[in-house]
Amino acid sequence: MLRHSAKQQMNVEATQTFSQQTAEYYNQLAEYYDLIYGDHVQASKQLVERASQIVLEKGKVPSKVLDVGCGNGWDIAHLGELGWNCSFYGCDLSLTMLSKARQIHDDLGVKSTLWEGDILYDNFGFGDDDLTAQFDLIIFRGNSLGHLNYEEYLTAFTNVFKMLKNGGMFLYDFRDGYKLFELNQAVEILNSQGRDETGYHLAAYFQDHGSNVRELYHLLAVLVSWNDPTQLPVTRSFPIAAHYVLPELTEKNVRDAGFASQEEITDRVGESLPTLRTFIACKS
Ligand SMILES: C[S@@+](CC[C@H](N)C(=O)[O-])C[C@H]1O[C@@H](n2cnc3c(N)ncnc32)[C@H](O)[C@@H]1O
Repeated sequence: MLRHSAKQQMNVEATQTFSQQTAEYYNQLAEYYDLIYGDHVQASKQLVERASQIVLEKGKVPSKVLDVGCGNGWDIAHLGELGWNCSFYGCDLSLTMLSKARQIHDDLGVKSTLWEGDILYDNFGFGDDDLTAQFDLIIFRGNSLGHLNYEEYLTAFTNVFKMLKNGGMFLYDFRDGYKLFELNQAVEILNSQGRDETGYHLAAYFQDHGSNVRELYHLLAVLVSWNDPTQLPVTRSFPIAAHYVLPELTEKNVRDAGFASQEEITDRVGESLPTLRTFIACKS
């Protein structure tokens, strides 16, 4: 079942534009997402296995799990494959990504409740039932935090905190903005020397890290043709602004949202596009 968000009835003027832009981006991208991120689906499986370890080291399999920014639903699917027998909930800004998630979960026989929601909305835009203090675990994964403005972190983390049971866990991950910033500078130097092959992929979607450390995700269809040699290289681009995630800002806002503790776990994952991922496990 796909539920529509209650956001139309809410006063969310301040955040609507950025969220709508993100939703539009993923609506266009959904068709290509797994293809472009072929590495991502594999890496996300490894990341979910790591996430599962982190959760189980600190307790038992949760009974109610929410994946905010679930995208096309691979995390829930992977947790189902790992044998997690729990109620799965997922929400995302993009209805097109959610449709993919519905299809993937149905194909794999994973039961889930999915809806169009926003981490910045009260009750995540679920609408009718109140989800306050319902979840043992909430995840917000895949560098999704990069889609929020820094000023929005506190709202997001506070909303998550409210939805967790006492003692519940919030687990999110990101690619450290400071490290990416340095990496991009290296890529730019290589590009300026005509050695663009090294950083092509990265340069294609981390551009314009200008004055306020903004990234511009700018995906080109030529990347699609890398993965599918039978396809003609048609140029398509889906520009979107996003932010680098800066660890010191997340740490402060997690604390201010009321979490009792937060632990950082950093791992390198992915083969063709090595990613240094930082997980933050927060306990309410
Ligand atoms: C990079 S994708 C990651 C998807 C998935 N978590 C994964 O790891 O494969 C980021 C996702 O976050 C969603 N997203 C971004 N901002 C959001 C927000 N404010 N509330 C809910 N979802 C959001 C996007 O629509 C997108 O599907």
